[in-house]
Amino acid sequence: MKTPIHIAVTGAAGQISYSLLFRLAAGLLLGPDQPIVLHLLEIAPAMPILKGVVMELQDCASPLLHRIVVTDDPLVAFKNVDYAFLVGARPRGPGMLRKDLLEVNAEIFAVQGRALDAVASRGVKVLVTGNPANTNALIAIKNAPGLKPENFSCMSRLDHNRAISHLAEKCGVLATDIKNMTVWGNHSCTQYPDLHHAKVKGQDALSLVPKKWFIEDFIPTVQQRGTEVLTARGQSSAASAANAAIDQMRTWIFGTDTSDWVSMGILSDGSYGIEAGLVFSYPVTVLNGEVSIVKGLDINEFSLQRLRVSEAELKEERDAVRYLF
Ligand code: NAI
Repeated sequence: MKTPIHIAVTGAAGQISYSLLFRLAAGLLLGPDQPIVLHLLEIAPAMPILKGVVMELQDCASPLLHRIVVTDDPLVAFKNVDYAFLVGARPRGPGMLRKDLLEVNAEIFAVQGRALDAVASRGVKVLVTGNPANTNALIAIKNAPGLKPENFSCMSRLDHNRAISHLAEKCGVLATDIKNMTVWGNHSCTQYPDLHHAKVKGQDALSLVPKKWFIEDFIPTVQQRGTEVLTARGQSSAASAANAAIDQMRTWIFGTDTSDWVSMGILSDGSYGIEAGLVFSYPVTVLNGEVSIVKGLDINEFSLQRLRVSEAELKEERDAVRYLF
Protein backbone atom coordinates (compact mmCIF):
# COMPACT_ATOMS: atom_id res chain seq x y z
CA MET A 1 0.00 0.00 0.00
CA LYS A 2 1.20 3.51 -0.80
CA THR A 3 2.31 5.81 2.02
CA PRO A 4 -0.46 8.29 2.88
CA ILE A 5 -0.04 11.87 1.67
CA HIS A 6 -0.77 14.63 4.14
CA ILE A 7 -3.19 17.37 3.06
CA ALA A 8 -4.10 20.43 5.17
CA VAL A 9 -7.38 22.30 4.78
CA THR A 10 -8.02 25.50 6.72
CA GLY A 11 -11.48 26.85 7.37
CA ALA A 12 -12.49 23.20 7.54
CA ALA A 13 -15.91 23.89 9.08
CA GLY A 14 -16.84 26.40 6.38
CA GLN A 15 -18.95 26.19 3.24
CA ILE A 16 -16.24 25.49 0.68
CA SER A 17 -14.64 22.84 2.85
CA TYR A 18 -18.00 21.09 3.15
CA SER A 19 -17.61 20.24 -0.55
CA LEU A 20 -13.81 20.09 -0.70
CA LEU A 21 -13.18 17.58 2.09
CA PHE A 22 -15.52 14.94 0.68
CA ARG A 23 -13.95 15.27 -2.77
CA LEU A 24 -10.51 14.80 -1.24
CA ALA A 25 -11.70 11.75 0.71
CA ALA A 26 -13.14 10.32 -2.52
CA GLY A 27 -9.73 10.50 -4.21
CA LEU A 28 -10.56 13.29 -6.65
CA LEU A 29 -7.21 15.01 -6.09
CA LEU A 30 -4.68 12.21 -6.11
CA GLY A 31 -6.57 9.27 -7.56
CA PRO A 32 -8.29 6.15 -6.26
CA ASP A 33 -5.19 4.34 -4.99
CA GLN A 34 -3.52 7.13 -2.99
CA PRO A 35 -4.35 7.13 0.74
CA ILE A 36 -4.45 10.48 2.50
CA VAL A 37 -4.34 12.00 5.97
CA LEU A 38 -6.43 15.16 6.33
CA HIS A 39 -5.22 17.91 8.67
CA LEU A 40 -8.17 20.18 9.46
CA LEU A 41 -7.55 23.65 10.86
CA GLU A 42 -10.27 25.79 12.41
CA ILE A 43 -10.60 28.51 14.99
CA ALA A 44 -11.77 27.36 18.43
CA PRO A 45 -15.37 28.71 18.16
CA ALA A 46 -15.96 26.61 15.01
CA MET A 47 -14.79 23.34 16.60
CA PRO A 48 -18.32 22.07 17.42
CA ILE A 49 -19.30 22.42 13.74
CA LEU A 50 -16.06 20.80 12.63
CA LYS A 51 -16.86 17.87 14.93
CA GLY A 52 -20.01 17.27 12.88
CA VAL A 53 -18.09 17.49 9.60
CA VAL A 54 -15.56 14.96 10.90
CA MET A 55 -18.39 12.58 11.86
CA GLU A 56 -19.74 12.82 8.32
CA LEU A 57 -16.30 12.19 6.85
CA GLN A 58 -16.01 9.09 9.04
CA ASP A 59 -19.48 7.99 7.95
CA CYS A 60 -18.31 7.88 4.32
CA ALA A 61 -16.06 4.93 5.29
CA SER A 62 -13.63 6.09 2.61
CA PRO A 63 -10.92 3.50 1.99
CA LEU A 64 -8.50 6.35 1.16
CA LEU A 65 -8.95 8.47 4.27
CA HIS A 66 -6.55 6.91 6.78
CA ARG A 67 -6.64 9.53 9.50
CA ILE A 68 -8.03 12.95 10.36
CA VAL A 69 -6.08 15.47 12.44
CA VAL A 70 -8.28 18.20 13.94
CA THR A 71 -6.67 21.28 15.44
CA ASP A 72 -6.80 25.02 16.01
CA ASP A 73 -2.99 25.24 15.93
CA PRO A 74 -1.41 25.97 12.50
CA LEU A 75 1.84 24.33 13.65
CA VAL A 76 -0.03 21.05 14.10
CA ALA A 77 -2.16 21.53 10.98
CA PHE A 78 0.79 22.08 8.65
CA LYS A 79 3.22 19.55 10.15
CA ASN A 80 4.82 17.68 7.22
CA VAL A 81 1.96 18.44 4.84
CA ASP A 82 2.52 18.03 1.10
CA TYR A 83 -0.51 20.06 0.03
CA ALA A 84 -2.28 22.88 1.83
CA PHE A 85 -5.61 24.42 0.88
CA LEU A 86 -5.81 27.77 2.69
CA VAL A 87 -9.57 28.31 2.55
CA GLY A 88 -10.28 29.77 6.00
CA ALA A 89 -10.71 33.52 6.21
CA ARG A 90 -12.91 36.02 8.02
CA PRO A 91 -15.96 37.13 6.06
CA ARG A 92 -16.81 40.83 6.01
CA GLY A 93 -18.85 41.66 9.15
CA PRO A 94 -21.43 44.43 9.56
CA GLY A 95 -19.84 47.88 9.31
CA MET A 96 -16.46 46.41 8.35
CA LEU A 97 -14.58 48.37 5.70
CA ARG A 98 -12.67 46.63 2.91
CA LYS A 99 -9.47 47.85 4.57
CA ASP A 100 -10.47 46.27 7.92
CA LEU A 101 -11.20 42.98 6.16
CA LEU A 102 -7.87 43.13 4.38
CA GLU A 103 -6.03 43.68 7.66
CA VAL A 104 -7.80 41.01 9.67
CA ASN A 105 -7.20 38.42 6.95
CA ALA A 106 -3.65 39.58 6.40
CA GLU A 107 -2.88 38.68 10.04
CA ILE A 108 -4.27 35.18 9.52
CA PHE A 109 -2.10 34.58 6.45
CA ALA A 110 1.02 35.98 8.13
CA VAL A 111 0.58 33.48 10.98
CA GLN A 112 -0.12 30.64 8.57
CA GLY A 113 2.83 31.58 6.33
CA ARG A 114 5.15 31.41 9.35
CA ALA A 115 3.71 28.06 10.42
CA LEU A 116 4.09 26.58 6.92
CA ASP A 117 7.66 27.87 6.89
CA ALA A 118 8.37 26.16 10.20
CA VAL A 119 6.81 22.73 9.73
CA ALA A 120 5.48 21.96 6.21
CA SER A 121 7.23 19.66 3.75
CA ARG A 122 9.80 21.69 1.75
CA GLY A 123 8.00 20.75 -1.46
CA VAL A 124 4.57 21.78 -0.16
CA LYS A 125 2.10 23.21 -2.65
CA VAL A 126 0.00 25.90 -0.95
CA LEU A 127 -3.18 27.04 -2.69
CA VAL A 128 -4.69 30.21 -1.21
CA THR A 129 -8.45 30.51 -1.71
CA GLY A 130 -9.48 32.74 1.24
CA ASN A 131 -10.06 36.32 0.13
CA PRO A 132 -8.48 38.64 -0.78
CA ALA A 133 -6.73 35.58 -2.24
CA ASN A 134 -3.93 37.26 -4.23
CA THR A 135 -2.78 39.51 -1.42
CA ASN A 136 -3.21 36.77 1.19
CA ALA A 137 -0.93 34.56 -0.92
CA LEU A 138 1.62 37.38 -1.09
CA ILE A 139 1.56 37.75 2.71
CA ALA A 140 2.02 34.00 3.18
CA ILE A 141 4.96 34.02 0.74
CA LYS A 142 6.61 36.93 2.56
CA ASN A 143 6.22 35.19 5.92
CA ALA A 144 7.71 31.91 4.70
CA PRO A 145 11.30 32.78 3.76
CA GLY A 146 12.38 29.14 4.13
CA LEU A 147 9.99 28.11 1.35
CA LYS A 148 10.13 29.33 -2.24
CA PRO A 149 7.53 31.66 -3.76
CA GLU A 150 6.94 28.76 -6.17
CA ASN A 151 5.44 26.83 -3.24
CA PHE A 152 2.45 29.20 -3.33
CA SER A 153 -0.34 30.08 -5.72
CA CYS A 154 -3.73 31.70 -5.33
CA MET A 155 -6.94 30.48 -6.85
CA SER A 156 -7.94 31.91 -10.22
CA ARG A 157 -9.37 28.64 -11.43
CA LEU A 158 -12.95 29.42 -10.51
CA ASP A 159 -12.78 32.56 -12.68
CA HIS A 160 -11.07 30.53 -15.42
CA ASN A 161 -13.75 27.82 -15.29
CA ARG A 162 -16.52 30.43 -15.31
CA ALA A 163 -14.98 32.03 -18.40
CA ILE A 164 -14.72 28.68 -20.21
CA SER A 165 -18.26 27.76 -19.36
CA HIS A 166 -19.71 31.10 -20.47
CA LEU A 167 -17.90 30.99 -23.82
CA ALA A 168 -18.82 27.33 -24.38
CA GLU A 169 -22.47 28.12 -23.81
CA LYS A 170 -22.37 31.04 -26.25
CA CYS A 171 -20.71 28.92 -28.95
CA GLY A 172 -22.85 25.83 -28.32
CA VAL A 173 -19.81 23.63 -27.63
CA LEU A 174 -18.51 21.62 -24.68
CA ALA A 175 -16.17 23.12 -22.10
CA THR A 176 -13.48 20.73 -23.33
CA ASP A 177 -13.66 22.35 -26.79
CA ILE A 178 -12.31 25.62 -25.32
CA LYS A 179 -8.52 26.03 -25.02
CA ASN A 180 -6.11 28.80 -24.05
CA MET A 181 -8.52 30.75 -21.87
CA THR A 182 -6.88 33.45 -19.76
CA VAL A 183 -8.06 35.36 -16.72
CA TRP A 184 -5.53 38.03 -15.80
CA GLY A 185 -5.08 39.91 -12.53
CA ASN A 186 -6.79 40.00 -9.20
CA HIS A 187 -9.52 37.64 -7.99
CA SER A 188 -11.93 40.55 -7.79
CA CYS A 189 -14.14 42.43 -10.19
CA THR A 190 -11.04 44.03 -11.77
CA GLN A 191 -10.00 40.60 -13.13
CA TYR A 192 -9.73 40.53 -16.91
CA PRO A 193 -11.14 37.47 -18.66
CA ASP A 194 -9.44 37.68 -22.05
CA LEU A 195 -10.62 36.03 -25.27
CA HIS A 196 -7.83 37.31 -27.53
CA HIS A 197 -5.92 34.03 -27.35
CA ALA A 198 -8.78 31.62 -26.59
CA LYS A 199 -9.66 28.93 -29.11
CA VAL A 200 -12.98 27.18 -29.76
CA LYS A 201 -12.43 23.82 -31.49
CA GLY A 202 -9.15 25.28 -32.77
CA GLN A 203 -10.66 28.51 -34.11
CA ASP A 204 -10.00 31.97 -32.67
CA ALA A 205 -12.77 32.71 -30.17
CA LEU A 206 -12.99 36.34 -31.26
CA SER A 207 -13.70 35.29 -34.85
CA LEU A 208 -16.77 33.42 -33.60
CA VAL A 209 -18.40 35.85 -31.17
CA PRO A 210 -19.25 39.54 -31.70
CA LYS A 211 -16.74 41.95 -30.17
CA LYS A 212 -19.70 43.73 -28.55
CA TRP A 213 -20.65 40.49 -26.76
CA PHE A 214 -17.05 40.04 -25.57
CA ILE A 215 -16.93 43.55 -24.10
CA GLU A 216 -20.46 44.07 -22.88
CA ASP A 217 -21.48 40.57 -21.84
CA PHE A 218 -18.56 38.15 -21.47
CA ILE A 219 -16.22 40.35 -19.42
CA PRO A 220 -18.79 41.71 -16.92
CA THR A 221 -20.56 38.35 -16.60
CA VAL A 222 -17.37 36.55 -15.59
CA GLN A 223 -16.28 39.43 -13.34
CA GLN A 224 -19.65 39.54 -11.57
CA ARG A 225 -20.43 35.83 -11.48
CA GLY A 226 -19.59 35.49 -7.78
CA THR A 227 -21.99 38.29 -6.87
CA GLU A 228 -24.68 36.76 -9.08
CA VAL A 229 -24.35 33.39 -7.32
CA LEU A 230 -24.41 35.13 -3.93
CA THR A 231 -27.59 37.01 -4.82
CA ALA A 232 -29.31 33.87 -6.10
CA ARG A 233 -28.22 31.48 -3.34
CA GLY A 234 -27.92 33.85 -0.43
CA GLN A 235 -24.46 32.35 0.08
CA SER A 236 -21.24 32.67 -1.87
CA SER A 237 -20.01 30.07 -4.37
CA ALA A 238 -18.97 26.97 -2.48
CA ALA A 239 -19.27 23.75 -4.52
CA SER A 240 -17.84 25.43 -7.63
CA ALA A 241 -15.04 26.93 -5.53
CA ALA A 242 -14.19 23.52 -4.06
CA ASN A 243 -14.26 22.04 -7.58
CA ALA A 244 -11.92 24.78 -8.80
CA ALA A 245 -9.54 24.26 -5.87
CA ILE A 246 -9.22 20.58 -6.79
CA ASP A 247 -8.82 21.49 -10.50
CA GLN A 248 -6.04 24.00 -9.77
CA MET A 249 -4.15 21.69 -7.41
CA ARG A 250 -4.48 18.76 -9.86
CA THR A 251 -3.07 20.86 -12.69
CA TRP A 252 -0.24 21.98 -10.42
CA ILE A 253 0.58 18.36 -9.57
CA PHE A 254 -0.10 16.58 -12.87
CA GLY A 255 0.55 19.39 -15.41
CA THR A 256 -1.28 21.10 -18.26
CA ASP A 257 -2.23 19.43 -21.54
CA THR A 258 0.37 20.08 -24.24
CA SER A 259 -1.94 22.26 -26.35
CA ASP A 260 -3.45 24.22 -23.48
CA TRP A 261 -2.77 26.48 -20.52
CA VAL A 262 -4.65 27.55 -17.36
CA SER A 263 -4.92 30.75 -15.32
CA MET A 264 -3.13 30.74 -11.97
CA GLY A 265 -2.30 33.46 -9.46
CA ILE A 266 1.47 33.41 -8.92
CA LEU A 267 4.21 35.81 -7.93
CA SER A 268 4.85 38.16 -10.84
CA ASP A 269 8.36 38.19 -12.34
CA GLY A 270 7.53 41.39 -14.22
CA SER A 271 6.02 39.56 -17.21
CA TYR A 272 3.64 41.65 -19.33
CA GLY A 273 4.82 44.77 -17.51
CA ILE A 274 3.15 43.81 -14.23
CA GLU A 275 5.15 44.94 -11.23
CA ALA A 276 7.35 42.10 -10.01
CA GLY A 277 6.41 40.91 -6.53
CA LEU A 278 2.62 41.11 -6.85
CA VAL A 279 0.59 37.91 -6.92
CA PHE A 280 -1.15 38.18 -10.29
CA SER A 281 -3.18 35.72 -12.34
CA TYR A 282 -1.34 34.76 -15.53
CA PRO A 283 -1.75 32.16 -18.24
CA VAL A 284 0.58 29.35 -17.20
CA THR A 285 1.73 25.92 -18.26
CA VAL A 286 2.80 23.30 -15.71
CA LEU A 287 5.32 20.53 -16.24
CA ASN A 288 6.60 18.22 -13.47
CA GLY A 289 5.02 20.49 -10.83
CA GLU A 290 6.81 23.59 -12.17
CA VAL A 291 4.69 26.54 -13.23
CA SER A 292 5.81 28.76 -16.16
CA ILE A 293 4.13 31.94 -17.35
CA VAL A 294 3.15 31.75 -21.02
CA LYS A 295 5.37 34.37 -22.63
CA GLY A 296 5.17 36.38 -25.80
CA LEU A 297 1.40 36.82 -26.16
CA ASP A 298 0.34 39.95 -28.05
CA ILE A 299 -1.38 42.34 -25.68
CA ASN A 300 -3.29 45.12 -27.41
CA GLU A 301 -4.12 48.51 -25.87
CA PHE A 302 -7.61 47.34 -24.83
CA SER A 303 -6.14 44.42 -22.85
CA LEU A 304 -3.22 46.44 -21.49
CA GLN A 305 -5.56 48.96 -19.91
CA ARG A 306 -7.43 46.20 -18.13
CA LEU A 307 -4.23 44.58 -16.87
CA ARG A 308 -3.19 47.98 -15.49
CA VAL A 309 -6.47 48.43 -13.59
CA SER A 310 -6.09 45.08 -11.84
CA GLU A 311 -2.40 45.72 -11.16
CA ALA A 312 -3.27 49.09 -9.57
CA GLU A 313 -5.79 47.41 -7.27
CA LEU A 314 -3.24 44.79 -6.23
CA LYS A 315 -0.65 47.48 -5.49
CA GLU A 316 -3.17 49.25 -3.29
CA GLU A 317 -3.94 46.02 -1.41
CA ARG A 318 -0.23 45.27 -0.99
CA ASP A 319 0.47 48.78 0.30
CA ALA A 320 -2.30 48.43 2.89
CA VAL A 321 -0.66 45.34 4.43
CA ARG A 322 3.00 46.10 3.76
CA TYR A 323 3.65 46.42 7.51
CA LEU A 324 3.36 42.62 7.68
CA PHE A 325 6.46 41.99 5.58
P1 NAI B 1 -17.08 30.34 5.36
O1 NAI B 1 -17.27 31.61 6.12
O2 NAI B 1 -18.23 29.41 5.18
O3 NAI B 1 -15.90 29.50 6.04
C1 NAI B 1 -14.69 30.08 6.42
C2 NAI B 1 -14.18 29.28 7.59
O4 NAI B 1 -12.88 29.75 7.91
C3 NAI B 1 -15.05 29.42 8.85
O5 NAI B 1 -15.45 28.14 9.30
C4 NAI B 1 -14.11 30.11 9.84
O6 NAI B 1 -14.31 29.68 11.18
C5 NAI B 1 -12.74 29.67 9.30
N1 NAI B 1 -11.63 30.51 9.75
C6 NAI B 1 -11.61 31.85 10.01
N2 NAI B 1 -10.41 32.22 10.45
C7 NAI B 1 -9.64 31.12 10.45
C8 NAI B 1 -8.30 30.86 10.82
N3 NAI B 1 -7.50 31.83 11.30
N4 NAI B 1 -7.83 29.60 10.70
C9 NAI B 1 -8.61 28.62 10.25
N5 NAI B 1 -9.91 28.78 9.90
C10 NAI B 1 -10.41 30.03 10.00
O7 NAI B 1 -16.46 30.77 3.95
P2 NAI B 1 -16.35 29.94 2.60
O8 NAI B 1 -17.58 30.15 1.81
O9 NAI B 1 -15.91 28.56 2.90
O10 NAI B 1 -15.20 30.76 1.86
C11 NAI B 1 -13.89 30.78 2.38
C12 NAI B 1 -13.06 31.87 1.71
O11 NAI B 1 -12.91 31.60 0.33
C13 NAI B 1 -13.68 33.26 1.81
O12 NAI B 1 -12.66 34.20 2.07
C14 NAI B 1 -14.25 33.49 0.43
O13 NAI B 1 -14.35 34.86 0.11
C15 NAI B 1 -13.18 32.80 -0.40
N6 NAI B 1 -13.57 32.43 -1.76
C16 NAI B 1 -12.60 32.51 -2.73
C17 NAI B 1 -12.87 32.14 -4.02
C18 NAI B 1 -11.81 32.22 -5.06
O14 NAI B 1 -12.14 31.98 -6.23
N7 NAI B 1 -10.56 32.56 -4.76
C19 NAI B 1 -14.21 31.67 -4.41
C20 NAI B 1 -15.14 31.58 -3.33
C21 NAI B 1 -14.82 31.95 -2.05
